[in-house]
Amino acid sequence: MTTLRIFDQSQPETAHTVTENPAEISKLLAHHGVRFEQWPTRDLPADAAPEDILQAYDDEVATLKAECGFMTADVVSLNPDNPQKDAFRQKFLDEHIHSEDEVRFFVRGQGLFYLHFGNEVFAVLCQKNDLISVPDGTRHWFDMGPEPEFTCIRLFTNPEGWVADFTGEDIAGRLPRYEALAGGAE
Ligand SMILES: [Fe+2]
Repeated sequence: MTTLRIFDQSQPETAHTVTENPAEISKLLAHHGVRFEQWPTRDLPADAAPEDILQAYDDEVATLKAECGFMTADVVSLNPDNPQKDAFRQKFLDEHIHSEDEVRFFVRGQGLFYLHFGNEVFAVLCQKNDLISVPDGTRHWFDMGPEPEFTCIRLFTNPEGWVADFTGEDIAGRLPRYEALAGGAE
């Protein structure tokens, strides 16, 4: 299930709030300027090409582009047989910010976003049909787990500007990782 857990950073071992209610997740995240919504399932073959995936979600992608000023969209996919999976996991595993929004729609699989607001960390397990849009400048990290399996649509205002600026904080290492929070993909 898509799940939001909220941690106080002074007690990082246990979440003080846990919800699997999409409307509640959306509301709690919207309070911090994060967009969360669920898009309807589209019939797509498991080996659908990126252009077919973008075509299937053309209405939703066009709406987001128009509302938020995104210029481009692409598709990223990762599977457990990828020989670089450990390096890919490590890449965004520490707290960082971007000068671009981080927008992901999960066509398949799952991933765990951690968003740091004040003294709290919101851990959002995103799964198939979930859209999350993290505003620029938000302190966050992403854990895809040891056996990453997902396909995501990404939206950008400027893909070249989408680089990680690491905060140097060690908070990511103090919270439970994917293995403790995500379980198996559904
Ligand atoms: Fe990021």
